[in-house]
Amino acid sequence: MSGKFLRVLDGEKFEVPPVWMMRQAGRYLPEYRETRAKAGGFVDLCLNPDLASEVTLQPIRRFGFDAAIIFSDILIVPYALGAKLWFEEGEGPRLEPVTDQASFGKLADQPDRKITERVYEALVQTRAALPKETSLIGFCGAPWTVATYLVAGRGTGDQAPARLLAMQEPALFQKIIDRLVETSAEHLIGQIKAGADAVQIFDTWSGVLDPQSFERWCVKPVAAIAAKVRAAIPDARIIVFPKGASLNGIDAVAKQSSANAAGIDWITNRKECAVRFGDNVAIQGNLDPLALIAGGEALDKAVDNVLGELRGVRHIFNLGHGIRKETPIENVERMIARVRR
Ligand code: CP3
Repeated sequence: MSGKFLRVLDGEKFEVPPVWMMRQAGRYLPEYRETRAKAGGFVDLCLNPDLASEVTLQPIRRFGFDAAIIFSDILIVPYALGAKLWFEEGEGPRLEPVTDQASFGKLADQPDRKITERVYEALVQTRAALPKETSLIGFCGAPWTVATYLVAGRGTGDQAPARLLAMQEPALFQKIIDRLVETSAEHLIGQIKAGADAVQIFDTWSGVLDPQSFERWCVKPVAAIAAKVRAAIPDARIIVFPKGASLNGIDAVAKQSSANAAGIDWITNRKECAVRFGDNVAIQGNLDPLALIAGGEALDKAVDNVLGELRGVRHIFNLGHGIRKETPIENVERMIARVRR
């Protein structure tokens, strides 16, 4: 019998929902900081199967979440296509930018298997070490979100470089998106074959596009990835996360990709979302990550709100975005105890 997390993806609901957290392996944990220091850089940690597996398991050992998410990054796909990638300490990712036909032409057609195999090896090791009832999640970034980093060469406040390129050179931008669709689908298939029980597609910056652009750059590419994954693995379980999108947008992504679940951020009206989805799509979310920093009664109330409003719904308890590094560990313990009481 599979664990609760998979059973919700497969159609069941529970009085006490399964729980995990986006970015659950990370800097709020002292054991993560220690392993990261041992690895050298962040990219080295992502590409070291022993250490990536170790940090994936750390939050499972400490908190007993229902699911583990493989430790990696959405920028590993462009890196495997040949874009240089590094992390500026205290700032964030830097990539060799793709801004024109010449820089696009330098990208490979296929990801370098020497790089992606390291992720698959980490999955194999992690699956072997996980308790049977704990599910393992693989992931990729959605093409739009990965393109925002690839075009700008870094994170940006408003994703203006990618939005501009999509307006000024739609044909070139389409080629970038298509390359990411192909290679991300291949990467998800590789992760499932290596032992991932489900995969999540992170579209962190889907909230900055007008409706037509959202349809073209978010809905269609994510649906195309899902179709490719299911063509290879018909019963693949897929979670979409169009962060910042409207209810209509979330609904379109979930339905056009036949997702098993959709992640929602804390802005989304979860009750309305549940009405839209009915029993067709599970909801994953959506505690405000700041409630987890606030702690105490504010946290209890926020947790109770999520649980109360999603009672009777196919629900996976999660945050509305990744946990922040300043989050006290005792608040994570308190949240889990509250969900499971
Ligand atoms: O959820 C998990 O525990 C799995 C691992 C995971 C990471 N990144 C590890 C990470 C996942 C699923 C991601 C996804 C990711 N990466 C996204 C989409 C989800 C989201 O959070 O919006 C994005 C946009 C990225 C790109 C990225 N990686 C940025 C912008 C940054 C810097 C910001 C930051 O928090 O420092 C990263 C670094 C990163 N990826 C860290 C972790 C644990 C922190 C790096 C460190 O140890 O210094």
